[in-house]
Amino acid sequence: LMPYQNELRMKTKQGVYRWFLDSGSFKLDEHGNLATLVGSIVDIEERKRAEEEILSKNIQLAKTNEELDRFVYSASHDMRAPLSSLLGLINISEKTTNIDELHSYLQMMKGRIRTMEGFIREVTDYSRNTRLDLTLEETDLEELIRGVAQNLADMTGRVRIEINLTEKIVLLTDPSRLKVILNNLLSNSYKYHRLDQADPFIAFSAHKSNNSVVIKIADNGSGIEPDYHNKIFDMFFRASTKSEGSGLGLYIVKETLQKMGGTIWIESTPGEGSVFTFAIPA
Ligand SMILES: Nc1ncnc2c1ncn2[C@@H]1O[C@H](COP(=O)(O)OP(=O)(O)OP(=O)(O)O)[C@@H](O)[C@H]1O
Ligand SMILES: [Mg+2]
Repeated sequence: LMPYQNELRMKTKQGVYRWFLDSGSFKLDEHGNLATLVGSIVDIEERKRAEEEILSKNIQLAKTNEELDRFVYSASHDMRAPLSSLLGLINISEKTTNIDELHSYLQMMKGRIRTMEGFIREVTDYSRNTRLDLTLEETDLEELIRGVAQNLADMTGRVRIEINLTEKIVLLTDPSRLKVILNNLLSNSYKYHRLDQADPFIAFSAHKSNNSVVIKIADNGSGIEPDYHNKIFDMFFRASTKSEGSGLGLYIVKETLQKMGGTIWIESTPGEGSVFTFAIPA
C-alpha cells in the first residue's frame, strides 16, 4: 500500500471555499493500474485558520524581538555615554582648584544627569503605554496644556509659548497619555529651536472636529528635511546631530497615539519651522 496526502480547497454546498485534507493509501496491480484505494477527506478549515494565526503571531514576535535587540543595544549605549562623561567630569574636577571652573563642571554634570533621567522616563513611558489599558477621564484641554508648558517653563524660558483655543474643549481621554504626547512634542519644539532669531515661539492650537479633537503644535525652529519626515517616528531615529536624546520621543508619541486610536502628521520646512498635528477621539 502506498500512502498519499493532499491539502486542497473545495467549494462547499453553501458556496464557500474551505480547506480539506485528502489522505489515504492505494495499491496498484501488476499493470500499474489502481487496484485498491482507501482514504478519507477531512475538513481542516479550522486548522488552516489556526496555522495562519500562528504565522502572523510569529511575524509580530519577530518584530518585537528585533525591537528588543535594538533596544538593549541602544539602552546600554544611552546609559553608558552620560555615565562615562560624568566620570570624565569628576576626574577633571578633582584636578582643579579654580572655583569658577568647578562650577561649570558641576553644571555640565547636571546636564549629563538630566539626559539619563530623560532616557529613564522614556523607557518608563514606553512600557507603561504597552502594559496599561487606557484610563479615560473628562479632561480640560487648556488646563492640561498649561500644566505641561508650566512644567517645562524653566527650560523654555526664552521661547514665547502661545496657547490659542478658540473654544473651551473638554474631552473624554487618557490624560496621562496625552501629557506624554504633549511633553515630547513641546520639548522637541524647544530643543530644535533657533534661539538666535528675534521671536522664537511655540504655538498650541486645537479645535473639535466630528468625534475627535485636533491639536496642533507649531514652532519656528530648525525644521526637518523632507527626506526624514517619514523616519522621525521610528524607534531611535534622530534627524540631527544636535540631538542629545535617544530618538525615542516621537516613537513613543506614535505608539501612544496608536493605543488611543489617534493619528499624527507633520509639515515642516528646514530653516523655517515645523507643525505637528494630531487627532484623538473625543
Ligand atoms: N519640532 C522639531 N523641530 C525640528 N526637528 C525636530 C522636531 N521634533 C523632532 N525633530 C527631529 O526628529 C528627531 C526625532 O525626534 P525624537 O523626539 O524621536 O528624538 P530626540 O528628540 O532626538 O530624542 P528623545 O526625544 O528621545 O530625547 C530629532 O532627533 C530631531 O532631529
Ligand atoms: Mg525628542
